[in-house]
Amino acid sequence: MSKLISGFSKLTKDEKISWLANNYFNNQDDAVETIKKYWNSDEKLQQLHDDFIENSVTNFYMPYGIAPNFIINGKEYVIPMVTEESSVVAAASLVAKFWSTKGGFKAEVLSTKKIGQVHFMFAGEKADLVSHFNQNKTELYAATASITKNMEKRGGGILDIELIDKTDKLANYYQLHVTFETKDSMGANFINSCLEAMANKFRTDEIEIVMSILSNYLPECIVRAEVSCKIEDLGVENPQYFAKKFHQAVQIAQIEPYRAVTHNKGIMNGIDAVVLATGNDFRATEAGAHAYAAKSGSYKSLTYCEIKNDVFRFWIEIPLAVGTVGGITSLHPMAKLSLEMLQNPTARDLMQIMATAGLAQNFAALRALTTKGIQHGHMKMHLLNILNQLEATKEEKVAVEKYFENKTVSHSGVADQLNSIRKLKVG
Ligand code: MEV
Repeated sequence: MSKLISGFSKLTKDEKISWLANNYFNNQDDAVETIKKYWNSDEKLQQLHDDFIENSVTNFYMPYGIAPNFIINGKEYVIPMVTEESSVVAAASLVAKFWSTKGGFKAEVLSTKKIGQVHFMFAGEKADLVSHFNQNKTELYAATASITKNMEKRGGGILDIELIDKTDKLANYYQLHVTFETKDSMGANFINSCLEAMANKFRTDEIEIVMSILSNYLPECIVRAEVSCKIEDLGVENPQYFAKKFHQAVQIAQIEPYRAVTHNKGIMNGIDAVVLATGNDFRATEAGAHAYAAKSGSYKSLTYCEIKNDVFRFWIEIPLAVGTVGGITSLHPMAKLSLEMLQNPTARDLMQIMATAGLAQNFAALRALTTKGIQHGHMKMHLLNILNQLEATKEEKVAVEKYFENKTVSHSGVADQLNSIRKLKVG
């Protein structure tokens, strides 16, 4: 029998769950029980989460960790991080503590411009289009007046509207390329509403609007974060050798795309965790970051390293479009809590905090990769996951963790050790 269904979104939550269990699960009671186990007992709170999306049937937990001891521009922070990857928060905390004794992180927002485009087709004379644009430019601003009113009060709004000719790439294709300042909001809804209003004003019988949408490519919404210290203060056995290898690792990520992607993935481990904890859009930050990494035409590292006059300097430059108002930032109680924990940052502050989290994560990864190797720390943090998978008791966990204190963790090693403890017990 077909499992296609129409009118699904109109069903009640219970009806949706029964339909799902009946059609897609062998053990229907188990599936329903698991789904319901994750409901919040506070009905109002559950309703709030259900209302975020369509067809919500339950919640999906992710661990919410905190990384203390960050100093950014002289201010102390504890950074909230939502991630399922075992070693991310541990790495951030370690690195934050390490740099807190060396002046901490310095961060700076370089620019905050965002872009949106009205894509359209025009087959007539270009001169006619240019004159239509010039005659209507003021009207395009006016068409968005009711949308931009509040944003302008906050110091934001539309900064510029340009007509761009793309006909050399695609026949008859032009754009209105619009630059925005959205202050403390990420601005996606604001930008898209402005663009649609402009498109309606701009269209004629000859101007065929294809679409109006913001761009997640943000080469002019950039933040920079940096750490530096004397090489001798790098806190390892042979600091000169360590600095050299670390520098080489960054150089490799600058010229080798296979490595650069993983290098930048590690950076995003830190950034996405803060993006999620503050209710921001991690797909947008991911898309923007990777596009920026490829801006030269080949994909490169988002971090840089320099060794000069016995000073080690390590920094990141990354586009981040995030908000501290709007979206679910003030609606999701945990996002609200995260923002309060971060001392109610502006969007610019939050960009600096996220860039710092990314830099810290990359420092931790490169330090591990160029010294002990990544698996040492990674598997140590993963140990508890393995133990949970093998259904270890509290007592067994303590014993196995003790056993692996100075040993490299592997799945089979943990299983063997657990088995021998269990055999001993039976014996
Ligand atoms: C794993 O999630 C991230 C790393 O692979 C990053 C890197 O290799 O730089 C450890």
